[in-house]
Amino acid sequence: MTIASERTPVLELRNITLHYGSVEALHDVSIKSYAGEVIGLVGDNGAGKSSLIKVISGVNTADSGEVIVDGVRRHWRSPHDSMAAGIETLYQDSGLAPDLSIGSNIFLGREKRRSGLLGRLGFVDQRAMEKEALEQLARVGITIPATQRTVSELSGGQRQAVAIGRAIAWAKHVIVLDEPTNHLGARQSAEVLNVIKSAREQGLSVIFISHSLPHVLEVTDRIIVLRLGRVVRDAPTSEFTVESLLGTITGLNESTGS
Ligand SMILES: Nc1ncnc2c1ncn2[C@@H]1O[C@H](COP(=O)(O)OP(=O)(O)OP(=O)(O)O)[C@@H](O)[C@H]1O
Ligand SMILES: [Mg+2]
Repeated sequence: MTIASERTPVLELRNITLHYGSVEALHDVSIKSYAGEVIGLVGDNGAGKSSLIKVISGVNTADSGEVIVDGVRRHWRSPHDSMAAGIETLYQDSGLAPDLSIGSNIFLGREKRRSGLLGRLGFVDQRAMEKEALEQLARVGITIPATQRTVSELSGGQRQAVAIGRAIAWAKHVIVLDEPTNHLGARQSAEVLNVIKSAREQGLSVIFISHSLPHVLEVTDRIIVLRLGRVVRDAPTSEFTVESLLGTITGLNESTGS
């Protein structure tokens, strides 16, 4: 803890408050995330997890509070700004384009930024793109048999793998995953957890949102618990069990929690 507090967080949120009309979704939320660390963000339905990650990514603008990346206060005008700053977000509904190929999905919206590499003679080099997409996915341990196939032909688990692979392939500093193991079978979930570990090994800061407490306990270094829009606990994963975590999430073990 002393070592961590001497480092500059790669991402810091300070005193974030957010309303949707009269609903207060986040109240005075402060968190820090560091390179090479996986944070679990947990809480009941409606606790504010997705709202918080949308503040990180620039979908939502906080009513008050600060977003600080690498020690510099930032103001996102759109999600594009956070992406340009090296923050990739996988939303709860993954947002792949079903009718496009896997390669096209990996490069969706990036064709311009990669134009030196792929935009030869003014057109996108489809073959080079598919090849590089495969390599990007393989780099994080995801293998898909035929990348030419469109996303609509993939299983739910494969789609999720592509969405995560895309996020990790582009993330420079932070990757935020909102329920990436939702609807996945045991084997695919295990693969996603391995991909998260590989992102940590690459030095990324990972924020992992999940209702699966065993998954959170397996893969994270630190857990932040949100309840009704407030941080109620922020502690090393080693301090939790499934039972104590459940108690902290629901507020039923207040006497034993901190
Ligand atoms: N677009 C919106 N408009 C109005 N209220 C919203 C909107 N999105 C979320 N809320 C409200 O804000 C609060 C936090 O919701 P949020 O989606 O952040 O929760 P969550 O922790 O992600 O829940 P879940 O586990 O169900 O995904 C809830 O009270 C929810 O009803
Ligand atoms: Mg959510």
